[in-house]
Amino acid sequence: MTNTRILVLGTGGTIAGIAGDAMRHDYQPGQIGIDEWLEDAGRYTLDVDFVGRQIANVGSENMGPQIWKVLHEVICEAMEDDALDGIIVTHGTDTAEETAFLLDLTLPLTKPVVLVGAMRPADAVGSDGMRNFVNAVRVASAESSKGRGVLLVMGDRVLAARDARKVRTRGTDDAFRGFPRGSVAIVTPSALEWFGNPWRDDPSPRFAFPSEFPEVPILYAAGGIRPSMAGRLLEDAQGVVVAGVGEGNMPEAVRAMLAKRAANGLLVIRASRVDEGLVDREPEDDANRFVASRALNPQKSRILAMVLLANGVTDPAKVQAVFDRP
Ligand code: SIN
Repeated sequence: MTNTRILVLGTGGTIAGIAGDAMRHDYQPGQIGIDEWLEDAGRYTLDVDFVGRQIANVGSENMGPQIWKVLHEVICEAMEDDALDGIIVTHGTDTAEETAFLLDLTLPLTKPVVLVGAMRPADAVGSDGMRNFVNAVRVASAESSKGRGVLLVMGDRVLAARDARKVRTRGTDDAFRGFPRGSVAIVTPSALEWFGNPWRDDPSPRFAFPSEFPEVPILYAAGGIRPSMAGRLLEDAQGVVVAGVGEGNMPEAVRAMLAKRAANGLLVIRASRVDEGLVDREPEDDANRFVASRALNPQKSRILAMVLLANGVTDPAKVQAVFDRP
């Protein structure tokens, strides 16, 4: 019997980070190459064969269309390769939720795709990277991981890409949370336990991967922000996500300015700057041609808006229908 074969794509982040001293707080992300990482993982009895490939080695604040495109292409090829059973992407935690959600929207998902990161560099006291990675191997090699979209493994928890969000800048166990669903499984090096059934019957990509990413800035609302400032942000924009106060609110003058722009074709999404900020439609949204982000936070709303605009979905009612869908 042949071992399960997992493709491991390195992109950098703290999981590949080095401080040079186990006691130091500051460190450089993206220092360890994927081959070195997999050699180190060879210390554990994992019963899988790895194929490593370095896609990038950057802090995840530098992830963007170019690296996303390569990642998407390589994973699409892996889906067609009968010799591979699952895919792991090592990734910085800062923007892992965005990459995971973009891939979730645009990949064919006939095999598990798992993102994994770490909150502490590889040489820190109590580093979490290798444990998270071993957990990710368990998820990526499990038949039961199919039909659950792209997954993110952090701190002995499995989160669905749509729900996952980084909620703390420090700490290993509780840096990520899921919303509106919490974690979808618990995972350790010796066990994987799902909390429910798979939720995706159709493994086809939901949307085509964008050939160009449209400009969709995030406007962070706060008391006293002025339409002139908001307007400057919108130069070249095809859409905007408002990280609104409370349930997607903004000063009246900004709302009026955005309604005028929406009437001229700008896609306006009302999200919330509050973590776990559910934003439902309000009666004025129809007249304003605004879209409510529902459970998606501003950064994920931006990813979805870019994908929809790139796929020619611009009508606010049609966009709303996609935001409404789990
Ligand atoms: C990054 O996102 O690249 C740095 C932070 C991390 O990985 O935890």
